[in-house]
Amino acid sequence: MGTSRTKEKSTLSTVCFIILTLSNVFQPTIYVSDAAATQPIKTIVVLVLENRSFDHMLGWMKTSVNPRINGVTGKECNSISTKQKGEKAGTICYTNDAEYVDPDPGHTFEAVEQQVFGSGSIPSMSGFVEQALSVSQNLSQTVMKGFKPQSLPVFASLVREFAVFDRWFSSIPGPTQPNRLFVYSATSHGSTSHVKKQLASGYPQHTIFDSLFADNKEFGIYYQNIPTTLFYRNLRKLKYIFKFHDYDLKFKKDAKSGNLPSLTVIEPRYFDLKGNSANDDHPSHDVANGQKLVKEVYEALRSSPQWNETLLVITYDEHGGFYDHVQTPYVNVPSPDGNTGPAPSFFKFDRLGVRVPTIMVSPWIKKGTVISRPKGPTPNSEFEHSSIPATIKKMFSLSSNFLTHRDAWAGTFEAVVGELTSPRTDCPVILPDVTPLRTTEADEDRHLSEFQSEIVQLAGVLNGDHFLSSFPNEMSSKMTVREAHYYVKGAISRFLAASKDAINLGADESAIVDMRSSLTTRSSVHH
Ligand SMILES: *[C@@H]1O[C@H](CO)[C@@H](O)[C@H](O)[C@H]1NC(C)=O
Ligand SMILES: *[C@@H]1O[C@H](CO)[C@@H](O)[C@H](O)[C@H]1NC(C)=O
Ligand SMILES: *[C@@H]1O[C@H](CO)[C@@H](O)[C@H](O)[C@H]1NC(C)=O
Repeated sequence: MGTSRTKEKSTLSTVCFIILTLSNVFQPTIYVSDAAATQPIKTIVVLVLENRSFDHMLGWMKTSVNPRINGVTGKECNSISTKQKGEKAGTICYTNDAEYVDPDPGHTFEAVEQQVFGSGSIPSMSGFVEQALSVSQNLSQTVMKGFKPQSLPVFASLVREFAVFDRWFSSIPGPTQPNRLFVYSATSHGSTSHVKKQLASGYPQHTIFDSLFADNKEFGIYYQNIPTTLFYRNLRKLKYIFKFHDYDLKFKKDAKSGNLPSLTVIEPRYFDLKGNSANDDHPSHDVANGQKLVKEVYEALRSSPQWNETLLVITYDEHGGFYDHVQTPYVNVPSPDGNTGPAPSFFKFDRLGVRVPTIMVSPWIKKGTVISRPKGPTPNSEFEHSSIPATIKKMFSLSSNFLTHRDAWAGTFEAVVGELTSPRTDCPVILPDVTPLRTTEADEDRHLSEFQSEIVQLAGVLNGDHFLSSFPNEMSSKMTVREAHYYVKGAISRFLAASKDAINLGADESAIVDMRSSLTTRSSVHH
């Protein structure tokens, strides 16, 4: 007995010795290369709002919140016509009286080209007024207005307390969907506009969700109407079905119990109903509702046991047609995957879109931080939506490759939580209250915006209704916002329920459920 004990002891000390030696030799290398071991964040929460430029939301915070922000002074002007410059009478300059906006300024690929380039060949940010005038007389003033900080009290407070990124661009100079696709996949797979058919059948590219899943890291999508992340085809697979959660039922609960996953995605409400207003900030929706959503998310995270390990990222998909004064990057921007856009532009994905507001929140962020350019990975790297998957990969040391050439190039933002040695204890528990800017009630009988009708198309596919010859365009063009809301709600809950049934029946985890239409008659179902 005695001998064997000694033997055990000596074996043990040999093992200890080896470990010590090894760690002495290798620790410095491991320490430096392993970002996950040195950074404090275990949960990244992402909230993407809709259609507003940096100057429109945060430009005026330069004067009253933090002078280091690259914002506006009122000297930024656009001519009514970019072909006849210097004509004093025909100029509109930037003001601080932004308010409730309806209708929506232009932000298609062609509209953005005009806004950014005017009639020249380098980005001069001179064509916003001219482009707006081509949509409607009143809009030319609207696009040259930013909010006073007191109209956006929640953002003013977050900018004061945490970090603002004043050089973060949308990934492509175009509309919502392609930019949203970049956020989790670093490409739009060649789309520069809303390609309904592709959106409905789902985009095929690899996403950061797949990279997380491959390394057994949790993610969760907390949606309010429907998860637009289902525009990625992979996300419809059975293996991901339990990642989708009803925001109202689950978000605060999971925050409170400390169960938010490593990547937590919050999707805003896209339909504007009485007593349940849209909060995605898209015109004509009231930005006060976006402020309320941000406040609610912040307060839930602030009181969560996970707070000290959390980083909240708030950004906007694209600039929505609103003026911004910062030249859009157009040199050495890599194409993500070699795909080119459609005729007539055949866009090569070699320049970025307009600057958008980005705010980051964590107790590891120094009060009043302003971040402009990233430090690499290349000399001309910029912050843009692909910075989100690039940073998730880096912070969580994911083993999968970069998604595309674009996230390999985009700046990463782990340094925002790298300055302090312990989490702050002075972060506000409650953010200011928000007063509505819009004085009228939600118009539930309104026709759908283009974005909303794409959401209905997605719901149609999930619900199996796209097989109906009557479905594709007519259905969403006839619907009101109220009808669309109920249709989408029914579709997503049927799709998730059917997917869960399929899992119980033992279906393959990479399968995607194909629903039969609930609108067809019995006989056509049999057929
Ligand atoms: C422009 O504004 C005026 C006054 O506010 C309003 O009466 C008119 O309907 C608006 N026109 C358009 C095209 O929106
Ligand atoms: C945002 O822009 C898209 C087009 O890019 C449009 O379809 C959508 O209606 C806009 N959203 C809002 C809230 O204005
Ligand atoms: C966060 O860290 C601070 C400072 O160490 C500590 O006082 C606080 O209790 C922690 N909060 C949570 C929720 O763990």
